Amino acid sequence: MSVSLTAAITRALSWFGFEVRKTPKSDELSIPDAEFYTPLFSPWRGYGEFAEYLRLARPYTLVSPDRLYVLCSLAGNAVRLGGDFWECGVYKGGTARMLAEFLRRNARTEAKLHLFDTFAGMPETEGGVDTHEKGDFSDCSLAAAIRAVGNAERVEFHPGWIPESFREMPDRPIALAHVDVDIYRSVWDCCEFIYPRLQAGGVMVFDDYGFPTCPGARRAVDEFFAARPESPIILGTGQALAIRLPAG
Ligand SMILES: C[S@@+](CC[C@H](N)C(=O)[O-])C[C@H]1O[C@@H](n2cnc3c(N)ncnc32)[C@H](O)[C@@H]1O
Repeated sequence: MSVSLTAAITRALSWFGFEVRKTPKSDELSIPDAEFYTPLFSPWRGYGEFAEYLRLARPYTLVSPDRLYVLCSLAGNAVRLGGDFWECGVYKGGTARMLAEFLRRNARTEAKLHLFDTFAGMPETEGGVDTHEKGDFSDCSLAAAIRAVGNAERVEFHPGWIPESFREMPDRPIALAHVDVDIYRSVWDCCEFIYPRLQAGGVMVFDDYGFPTCPGARRAVDEFFAARPESPIILGTGQALAIRLPAG
């Protein structure tokens, strides 16, 4: 698609506060995939292969397209490590469905996707730290999530309370952990169990780190990583990432 009038683009970019780095010589500027520049390149609007992942996840997820895109991109790196994928906080299964399909298409090893949730809503929360309450997200079920996620060959469900449901897990390396549990105690328990099993280069993605509805999530991440070499990377999407550094 061709976009005319360089001046109009320049004006639009300046309006949104973006620096215009180069003044094109011609008055005609052709930008590949111009429909995804809004005003910057925004592939989470459904660019390329991601369009299919977005289509699969959306009916079953609370997670916005920009966060889905970050998660999908991280999966693209993590899959090369060969370890398992974990998701804590599955609810109706939207993000899990995307990760399951990603593994189906891309995994070259026996990597599995392990899914942890009560499938019956939030456990007890801590007043003064969390805004969520016991029983939030109870409009879901294990059976419905199994139907939504698919790819039974690669996916294992672990219904129950975190961290009790972790204790049955064999000691296998983890390449990617999507932590979407919203409250202080649950995020902390995920950090404590997953971090030591995370491969070097593996990543923990905290979906709700920056959300005003989840102050306990940010507190747990900040407290946990204050005593560790990794600094969480905070994104404009509301997510935060912790990438495991090599030992030593
Ligand atoms: C925001 S939802 C997950 C959203 C989901 N990833 C999606 O794609 O929409 C948070 C989930 O975390 C689960 N959860 C929070 N703490 C938990 C705990 N300690 N044990 C098990 N599940 C927990 C809740 O049951 C709820 O389903």
